[in-house]
Amino acid sequence: MPHLKQVLFFSLCGLVAVGVLTGVTTPQAVQAKIALRSAEHRGDMLFHSSRLGTNGLSCDNCHVDGGRFSHRLAARRIPSLVGAKSLFPVVSSNGQVRTLEEQINLCIMRGLQGKPLAPESRQLSLLDLYIRHLSRFHER
Ligand code: HEC
Repeated sequence: MPHLKQVLFFSLCGLVAVGVLTGVTTPQAVQAKIALRSAEHRGDMLFHSSRLGTNGLSCDNCHVDGGRFSHRLAARRIPSLVGAKSLFPVVSSNGQVRTLEEQINLCIMRGLQGKPLAPESRQLSLLDLYIRHLSRFHER
């Protein structure tokens, strides 16, 4: 009769082996996850920083609590950003197609009095990634 500790040890080895063989836990997969989390974190920092504009405000001044809730600010409805990634592109009231990146740039220009970010810029993709990340853990 094998000892219980041995059984547990070999079961654990088996699980890790299955993980590696099926590609669930390769070192590359772990590294990719860490890189993704760190980029989302940088997006989060950018969302809370005032350096995207010139009026000292950040995205979070309007989209409070990291953009997790909708609310009213001086009679304006500020939408929650949870789910925004799958909502866009939208057709605006004047019939124009607006992508998520264009919306972010509109907010930078109108809300932060800043210059729009280039479509291929690192900062825009970090904000994009942060907004995608919001939808993963929160319901609208
Ligand atoms: C001065 C307030 C203000 C600031 C600052 C602001 N926003 Fe917005 N944002 C709004 C309002 C109001 C809307 C609703 C749509 C509109 O009127 O343009 C909106 C809409 C959005 C949407 C679309 C959400 C949806 O579900 O329709 C996204 C995405 C967004 N903002 C991202 C950002 C990001 C990223 C920043 C920072 C770079 C930012 N906003 C800064 C006020 C602001």
